[in-house]
Formats: sequence, structure tokens, C-alpha cells
Amino acid sequence: MAEAWRSRLRFREPWPPHHPHHCYNLYLVRLFWLIILAFFFMEVAGVEGRVSSKGCLQRERDALLLFKSAIKDPSARLSSWHAQVDCCAWTGVVCHNRTGSIRVAELNLQNPNAYQLNESDTALRGELLHPSLLSLTHLHTLNLSFNDFDGTQIPPLIGSLHKLLHLDLSFSNFSGTIPPRLGNLTNLLYLDLRSYNYPYSVTLVHSLDWLSDLSSLIYLDMSYMNLSIASHNLISAVNMLPSLQQLNLAACGINNIPQYSLNFHLNLTSLTTLDLSENFFNSSFPNWLWNLTSLKSLTLSMCEIRGMLPIEISNLISLTHLYLFGNFLSGPLPDTLWKLKHLTYLDLSYTLLGNSLPMGIMNLSSLSALYLDNCSLISPIPSELGNLTTLNELSLESNLLSGLIPHEIWKLVNLEYLDLSFNSFEGDITEFHLSNLTKLNALSLSGITLAIDHNWNPPFQLQVIRLGSCKLGPRLPTWLRSQKSIVAIDLYNTSIEDNLPEWFWNSLSIVEFLDLSRNKISGTLPASLENLTKLSNLYLDSNLLKVQFLIFHPTY
Ligand SMILES: *[C@@H]1O[C@H](CO)[C@@H](O)[C@H](O)[C@H]1NC(C)=O
Ligand SMILES: *[C@@H]1O[C@H](CO)[C@@H](O)[C@H](O)[C@H]1NC(C)=O
Ligand SMILES: *[C@@H]1O[C@H](CO)[C@@H](O)[C@H](O)[C@H]1NC(C)=O
Ligand SMILES: *[C@@H]1O[C@H](CO)[C@@H](O)[C@H](O)[C@H]1NC(C)=O
Ligand SMILES: *[C@@H]1O[C@H](CO)[C@@H](O)[C@H](O)[C@H]1NC(C)=O
Ligand SMILES: *[C@@H]1O[C@H](CO)[C@@H](O)[C@H](O)[C@H]1NC(C)=O
Ligand SMILES: *[C@@H]1O[C@H](CO)[C@@H](O)[C@H](O)[C@H]1NC(C)=O
Ligand SMILES: *[C@@H]1O[C@H](CO)[C@@H](O)[C@H](O)[C@H]1NC(C)=O
Ligand SMILES: *[C@@H]1O[C@H](CO)[C@@H](O)[C@H](O)[C@H]1NC(C)=O
Ligand SMILES: *[C@@H]1O[C@H](CO)[C@@H](O)[C@H](O)[C@H]1NC(C)=O
Ligand SMILES: *[C@@H]1O[C@H](CO)[C@@H](O)[C@H](O)[C@H]1NC(C)=O
Ligand SMILES: *[C@@H]1O[C@H](CO)[C@@H](O)[C@H](O)[C@H]1NC(C)=O
Repeated sequence: MAEAWRSRLRFREPWPPHHPHHCYNLYLVRLFWLIILAFFFMEVAGVEGRVSSKGCLQRERDALLLFKSAIKDPSARLSSWHAQVDCCAWTGVVCHNRTGSIRVAELNLQNPNAYQLNESDTALRGELLHPSLLSLTHLHTLNLSFNDFDGTQIPPLIGSLHKLLHLDLSFSNFSGTIPPRLGNLTNLLYLDLRSYNYPYSVTLVHSLDWLSDLSSLIYLDMSYMNLSIASHNLISAVNMLPSLQQLNLAACGINNIPQYSLNFHLNLTSLTTLDLSENFFNSSFPNWLWNLTSLKSLTLSMCEIRGMLPIEISNLISLTHLYLFGNFLSGPLPDTLWKLKHLTYLDLSYTLLGNSLPMGIMNLSSLSALYLDNCSLISPIPSELGNLTTLNELSLESNLLSGLIPHEIWKLVNLEYLDLSFNSFEGDITEFHLSNLTKLNALSLSGITLAIDHNWNPPFQLQVIRLGSCKLGPRLPTWLRSQKSIVAIDLYNTSIEDNLPEWFWNSLSIVEFLDLSRNKISGTLPASLENLTKLSNLYLDSNLLKVQFLIFHPTY
């Protein structure tokens, strides 16, 4: 199964890789929001600062200056932190005036370049939980995400920041063990300890007893921490958090989750999001899952779950997102699944479903994303799939689907992501078929016979193009010239001969992934290749190219 994953991840997302969908488009959207959020925090910090006429307390200002002098800030992110300036106006500092005096209430010191190539350049480093922070007695938000603790342990003094409501230490390169004194932060609503460096310096959690003291928690993320020793009482520990709405424990080494009914009553009536992906269940679906009736999003991908999906799935009547990919899930799917009218995102890829595409899917009239890659589907695609007119993403890659692709598929005009690669379809796909898919952003037709007019003018702008093992050559299709925002393109084994035209290289200015291997491309690589500054994956092998130089920009 791991091998299958690698092939899927050849079009990989940047770290962290456990996101259930592998769509560049979504990644870019996420990135966009991260950036907006970062700007938002800066803006808030600025505005709040200007409000105060009196300014911050000298004691708090001195504490912050002490903090600044104790850490490393190679990119001078804290250059606005000067004794002469009101500390409420400093970058990342937010003051409140709730008790009649101005107090530092938030430190939003998250790295603004999260997921960027220059992320580590802008990380704050060293003793990020410096004792001077204890002087900020009204601090309720501390965000240090994407900074760098240099692999040190979270110091126990964290437990003394009693007023904290929001603590975000995600992706900040700490390791060792989790101090149980975290349990002293009894006001916490939001705790994010996701780690970055799995599997190199996984943080070990010896016990989860401290968790039960955080009884107000709404949001808890400990993904990629090593909970293997503590997981025997995981469910009973989180059951003490009755306000919990979101629980993310992906890749935590959980290997002994209770399978059958619990000997206590489940408290988790507010839980709307549960992510237990990449843990080792090696069992059927645990029974108690179906008591979590408030769930809107359930992620159990790559958990080595075996057997069939039980009929009780329909207890989760509010479910909008269901990710079960990468399990030994066998068919048939229960009819009750089709009662989940709110489902918008369904991913059952890399499972053992088999048989033909279940007709019940057509009842899921809100579906916007359907992923059924590599699950041994046979027979033709039923034309009724065209009834799912709200689909934005449809992925049926690597199955045994046969026959003609029904015309109804080409009328799904909301499609942004379409992957029909590696099946056994008959007939050619022509430019006529694609002519109404104006929103298409990612198109994968690898291994399918195409008969597209080279001079066609497509109605879409693609970011992701996968046409590997399609017969396109001997000339590169001219229609590609119209595509101005290519981020990833796979033209592996497409019978292209001859030199590649200059316009092709010019159209790749933001490309990250480029696969031209196994063709008969000749000539010399153009010097303009050095201008492809985003390129991180380049495959040119098995061609007739003369390679004079190669500049690589390794990412992630
Ligand atoms: C802070 O609040 C007090 C009392 O509510 C008010 O008198 C004072 O003007 C406020 N200070 C600032 C800087 O807003
Ligand atoms: C880091 O990269 C981002 C986006 O590529 C850019 O906006 C930012 O200015 C860069 N920051 C530094 C300090 O180089
Ligand atoms: C994390 O800390 C370790 C130990 O100091 C260091 O070697 C490593 O480069 C850091 N990792 C990242 C991603 O910064
Ligand atoms: C911390 O900053 C990150 C952005 O890097 C943001 O996603 C997250 O929501 C912030 N956490 C809190 C508690 O505000
Ligand atoms: C903090 O936690 C420790 C260990 O769990 C405990 O001994 C101590 O009394 C707690 N301190 C406060 C102020 O709650
Ligand atoms: C997690 O911790 C256990 C117990 O210390 C250890 O056996 C295991 O190798 C760790 N897992 C990882 C991924 O480091
Ligand atoms: C449910 O949560 C409450 C509040 O945290 C706790 O007191 C109670 O023991 C929990 N019930 C079970 C069965 O765990
Ligand atoms: C789950 O729900 C059933 C029926 O509502 C109930 O009998 C059972 O005790 C619940 N199980 C748990 C673990 O809460
Ligand atoms: C997984 O479960 C099967 C069946 O219960 C068992 O035979 C096997 O030993 C388990 N594998 C591991 C690694 O625990
Ligand atoms: C699909 O839509 C057509 C016409 O809108 C309708 O007649 C048919 O019953 C639908 N099929 C399914 C399986 O929903
Ligand atoms: C595209 O839309 C036009 C106008 O609605 C329609 O005539 C044509 O059949 C559609 N093409 C395909 C491939 O569905
Ligand atoms: C790279 O881009 C710059 C600016 O567009 C241009 O001046 C330069 O000639 C390009 N380099 C090559 C080798 O094409």
C-alpha cells in the first residue's frame, strides 16, 4: 500500500503531507488564507497599538525586551521592538484595556512565511518560552507556530501562564517529552502542538492524565506527536473534555484504540471534527465512532482499518466530509451511506471496494468532491454520474473502468479537478468533450487516447496537467501555449520528438513540477531554464537532450 501512496504523491503537496487531498488548487487556496491571516494579525496588532494613548506598562515592556534579547531573530522580525516605542504598537503584540489598565494580551509571533521556501530564515529561535513571559500576567494568546525551539523540550514553566486561552506551538521544532504541567493551563480553549519533524525528533507523550484538567478545550491538535505509550487511555482522557469540537491526532502512533463498546459513556457531544489518520488500527471500524453524532468531518485515512463500512455510518447524519482513503476497506458500501445528504467531500481512494461504481452515490446531491482512485472499480462509468452537477472534483484514477466515457461527464461544468487517468476506457477524448469545462484547473488523462486538435483554443487555464503516456507527439501540442499558469505538468512518455519550442519554456515561469522523461526530445536545454525559480521536481531522463547545466531549487 505504501508504494501506491508514493505514486500518488509524485504530485505531492508540500509538507505536511497528511492532507487528505492532493490538489494543488486547494493547497494554493490554503496558502492564500495563511498569508491573509498573517497580514490580518499584523494589522490587528497595529490598530490595537494605536488605540492606547497611555501605552503599555513599563514592566511588561521590559519583560518583552528581555524576551527579545534571549532569542535569535535572524530576519529582524522584531525590529519594531524598541524601548522608545509603546510596546502595544510592536509587531505581533496586542494589548487590551479590559481592567482599566493597558495589558499585553496577545503575542502573535507565528512565522509569517509558513510553508514558504524561506520559512526557516524567518523563524525565531532558541528560548522561545523565556521566563520573562511570566511577567505578562494577562497574556491570553501565545502563537509561536513555525518558529524553532532548536529541538529542545517545552519547558515546564509553560504551566505558569495561567491566563492562556490560546496556545499555538505547532511546527515549532520542539522534542523530548510533554511536561504534564500543561495541565495547569485550565483555561485553555485552543491547544495546537502539531509537530514538524516526524519521524526524526518525535515528541513523546508518556501520559495523557494532564489532559483531563483542560476541561474547557474546544480545539486540540497533537498530530505527529508520539502517543504510542499513552494511547491505551486516549479515549477516556479526551472524554473528559466535553466542549471539544475539534480533535486532530494524525500520525500519533496510536496502535491500541478500543474497538468495541466502551465501558463508559461518551461525553463528546460537541465534537464536529475528528482526524485519526495515519494511525495503526489493524482492526475493523471501532463501534463507538457511531456515537459521535455531531461529527461533520471524519478522517480515518491510512489507518489499516479492515472490513466493511458498517450500516451505523448513517448515525453521523451531519457528516459533510468523509476521508477513508488508504484502508483495507472492502465492499459493498452500506446503502445507509447514501442517507448522508450533507456529504460534500467523499474520499474512498486506495481501498478494496471493487465492483462497479455504486449507484447510491447519485443520491448524494450536495457532493462537490468524489475521490475513488485505485479501488478496483470495474465496468463503464454510469451515465447517472452526470446528475451530480455540483461536483468540483472528480477523481477515478487507476481503476479498471471500461467502455466509453459517458457524455454526461462532459456536462459537469463545475469541474475544477478531473482525473480519469489509468483506466481501460474505449474511444478518444477530443477537444469537443472538454469544450464546456471552463472552470477546469487540474486535468489528468494519463494513459487515455486523446485526439485533440493541436491548434485548439481551450476554454480553461490549467495549473495541473497530467497527460503521461498519452500519444501527443511528435510535435508538442500547440494548445498548451494558451496555458499561462502551469504549476505542474507531466508529459512522460508522450511520443514527443524534436526540439521543444521556446514558447513552451516561456510558459513555465511558475512551474514546480515538470516531467518530460521518456520522449525523444533533442537539442540543448535552453538557458532560460534558470528562470524557472519555483521548479522543485524535474524529470528529463530517457531523452536525447544534451544537458549543459542544471540548476536545482530543492524545496520542502
Ligand atoms: C482604558 O479603559 C479606561 C476605563 O474603561 C478608560 O478610562 C481609558 O481611557 C482606557 N484607555 C485607553 C488608552 O483606551
Ligand atoms: C519570503 O517569501 C515570501 C513569499 O515567497 C515573500 O513574500 C517574503 O518577502 C520572503 N521573506 C523574506 C524575509 O525573504
Ligand atoms: C530542529 O532542531 C534541530 C536541533 O537543534 C536542528 O538540527 C534542526 O535543524 C531543526 N529543524 C528545523 C526544521 O529547523
Ligand atoms: C497561529 O498562527 C497561525 C498562522 O501561522 C494560525 O494558523 C493559527 O490559527 C494561529 N493560532 C492561534 C491560536 O491564533
Ligand atoms: C501545576 O502542576 C503541578 C504538577 O501537575 C502541580 O504540582 C502544581 O500544584 C500546579 N500548580 C498550580 C499553580 O496549579
Ligand atoms: C514512539 O515511542 C515508542 C516508545 O518510546 C517507540 O518505541 C517508537 O519507536 C516511537 N515512534 C516513533 C515514530 O518515533
Ligand atoms: C464527562 O465529562 C465530565 C466533565 O469533564 C467528567 O466529569 C465526567 O467524568 C465525564 N464522563 C465520563 C464518562 O468520562
Ligand atoms: C452509544 O449509543 C448507544 C445508543 O444510543 C448507547 O446505548 C451506548 O451506551 C453509547 N455508547 C457510548 C460508548 O457512549
Ligand atoms: C493485525 O491483525 C491481524 C488479525 O487480527 C493479526 O493477525 C496481526 O498479527 C495484526 N498485525 C499486527 C502487526 O499487529
Ligand atoms: C438523473 O437525472 C435524470 C434527469 O434529471 C433523472 O431522470 C434520473 O432519475 C436521475 N438519476 C438518478 C440515478 O438520480
Ligand atoms: C456544451 O454545451 C453546448 C451548449 O449548451 C452543448 O450544445 C454541447 O453539447 C455541450 N458539449 C458537451 C461535450 O457536452
Ligand atoms: C530570465 O529572465 C530575465 C527577466 O525576464 C531576462 O532578462 C533573462 O534574459 C532571462 N534569462 C534567460 C537565460 O532567459
